[in-house]
Amino acid sequence: MAKTLHRLITALAAAVAAVGLLTVVPASADVSPYIVGGTRATISQYPWTVYLATSSGGQFCGGTLVKGNKVVTAAHCTSGRSAASTRVVWGREDKQSTAGIVASVTKIWIHPSYRSATSGYDVSVLTLDRNITSAYLPLAGPSDTALYAAGTSTTILGWGTTSSGGSASRYLLKASVPVVSDTSCKQSYPQYNASAMVCAGYPQGGTDTCQGDSGGPIVAGGKLIGATSWGRGCASAGYPGVYARIATYNSVLTQQIDS
Ligand code: ARG
Repeated sequence: MAKTLHRLITALAAAVAAVGLLTVVPASADVSPYIVGGTRATISQYPWTVYLATSSGGQFCGGTLVKGNKVVTAAHCTSGRSAASTRVVWGREDKQSTAGIVASVTKIWIHPSYRSATSGYDVSVLTLDRNITSAYLPLAGPSDTALYAAGTSTTILGWGTTSSGGSASRYLLKASVPVVSDTSCKQSYPQYNASAMVCAGYPQGGTDTCQGDSGGPIVAGGKLIGATSWGRGCASAGYPGVYARIATYNSVLTQQIDS
């Protein structure tokens, strides 16, 4: 009896030690409790930040309200989806709350040249079943070259995972990252196309968008400069986040938004 008890205690102690090791020594990318280097954001401060959900309510991407009834997101978020199975959730900072509005989607437009995120054209426009609000974000245009200059401070937002391979955030998170030069981004990623994309992140990594943030906004100078698109892992040194370059697609997007 004493022996059995002793064995049990030894086994328990070993299990506790193993769990302890796992929690005490996380991978470096898992250290931050937020978006990967971010903090909580108030939805009232970013009222144009929305998320895309399935008809059962599961969040799978981000988006930006750019007109009362239009949302810009990434094509890789909407490709293969039907409008009927897609919802846009507005005004809900906490995914576990019922705050805000759940709008239905009446139309999904995907850039006709879109094939995959890494080959560009990763933009899509959703038409909603109603006008949500007049608080929306303007798109960057061809004259906004300064916003795309290396070092420009940007804000990234989303409900995505807080580490590469981690679980999604319950709350809206934000972080600030600088724009990376085209030359530098091309060195990180051979597929980088400066006319279709823009990169942002710190050379040492640590702050980035991640899975589930896709389609969501990267903002500079009060304008939407990009939609979260792709990257190698998340927040890794030498591998910044890549965003669809909104200025390049301004006219084709505006055509959809005004139609
Ligand atoms: N493709 C991801 C998504 O669908 C976004 C990845 C962004 N990655 C990054 N390292 N910034 O949510």
